[in-house]
Amino acid sequence: MSEERASFGSKLGIIMATAGSAVGLGNIWRFPYMTGKNGGAAFILIYIVCVIVLGIPCMISEFIIGRHGAANTARAYTRLSNGTIWKLVGYLEVLTGFLITGYYAVISGWCLNYVYASVMGELNGDPAFVKNYFVEFSQDPIRPVFWTIAIFAITHFIIIHGVRNGIEKASKLMMPTLFVLLLVIVVAAWMLPGASKGIDFLLKPDFSKVNSDVFLGALGQCFYSLSIGMGCLCTYASYFSRHTNITTSAIQIGFVDLMVALLAGLMIFPAAFSVGINPDSGPSLIFITLPNVFNQAFSGAPLLGWAVSLMFYALLFLAALTSLISLHEVNTAFFYEELHISRKAGAWIVTVFCCIIGALCSISIGHKSGLSLFGLDLLDLFDFVTGQLMLPVVGFFMCLFVGWYIPKQIVIDELTNWGTLKFSFYKLFIFVMRFVCPLCILAIMLHQFGVI
Ligand code: PHE
Repeated sequence: MSEERASFGSKLGIIMATAGSAVGLGNIWRFPYMTGKNGGAAFILIYIVCVIVLGIPCMISEFIIGRHGAANTARAYTRLSNGTIWKLVGYLEVLTGFLITGYYAVISGWCLNYVYASVMGELNGDPAFVKNYFVEFSQDPIRPVFWTIAIFAITHFIIIHGVRNGIEKASKLMMPTLFVLLLVIVVAAWMLPGASKGIDFLLKPDFSKVNSDVFLGALGQCFYSLSIGMGCLCTYASYFSRHTNITTSAIQIGFVDLMVALLAGLMIFPAAFSVGINPDSGPSLIFITLPNVFNQAFSGAPLLGWAVSLMFYALLFLAALTSLISLHEVNTAFFYEELHISRKAGAWIVTVFCCIIGALCSISIGHKSGLSLFGLDLLDLFDFVTGQLMLPVVGFFMCLFVGWYIPKQIVIDELTNWGTLKFSFYKLFIFVMRFVCPLCILAIMLHQFGVI
């Protein structure tokens, strides 16, 4: 391993930065909705099994590749594959990260706008007003682009300060803030009249809703939520030290990610149920349903409503920002190492190109822009191509790479920190990477295209 390569300074820094990548919009806007739709606690149980059986082993695999490759994701794969065709998986991970960065920034920019709108009290009004606010904002040709650029400016600023002074410092500040905000909002939501109905709904297992869709939904959610297959885990692992225990780190990060997702559910459902609104999914949940919930739930205490709304969007913004930083870093590391330029120059390339992608995605949402491909606006298109096509393909080959291709000794060395740690599940781990994970991912893909 090269001596000068940047590294994280502490164990806490590693957990905070990597959990920062994992904890994102997927935890807050997708998980609660999936749980509500797919049988409450029954879904949560299946999800937990997916995280343990598939998510954590895949995370460990990305850590193995990243730490052993000690370079950006593309070069790490190239090194471990001795330049054979397997290196394409690394390049594909970088490309997926690149494409996701642009559109993830657009949604993150929306969150930032809503922080601003909360501060200014712009979201107060009846449901029709709130809906109209979102439609007008998201279709405006300028405002969302402005916020996308603003969020890139913040990300860029953090990235150019390097791994330890930028990413690690920022994560150590932002992640604890995020937890505190989350806990405060959960408590505020639970104090609302009728909140217990929401908790009951979320925690009551309904096994009658469990079918193959639910299993595959849990699997897809688990991969997305843990940031598997986009180079983020691999890139961050290249900054781990030789003493980092990658197995326990993966377990801790998986646990934090799960806790945030559960707490998000325990915040959104009680609040929504207390005013009799059924939570929606995706953008409409975050940007239309929830402002209404806050307005109605706290109509008797407007100042509290103002504070909760502000805290919620700040929480969302932090969750999105730490994920965006990890996506940006995948590409920054790629450009500066492959083009032999400075870190700053690499970061500029990513920022400029991703700003352009983000701006195009943002503009294409407006009805009149005419900017679309295959009948989808660019935001949906990027989401589909990366999330539903590229991610599973990359994940599938990553499992085969670790399970079948790379020398077993490398896996053993990485799991035991060159013989200094005990790791008794080696055979089980290899079995999971060889058979269980690839077959499950294959099932997700076939299911997505209606084959099974
Ligand atoms: N894991 C993030 C979330 O839950 C999404 C993400 C995926 C972020 C990949 C970075 C990289 O929202």
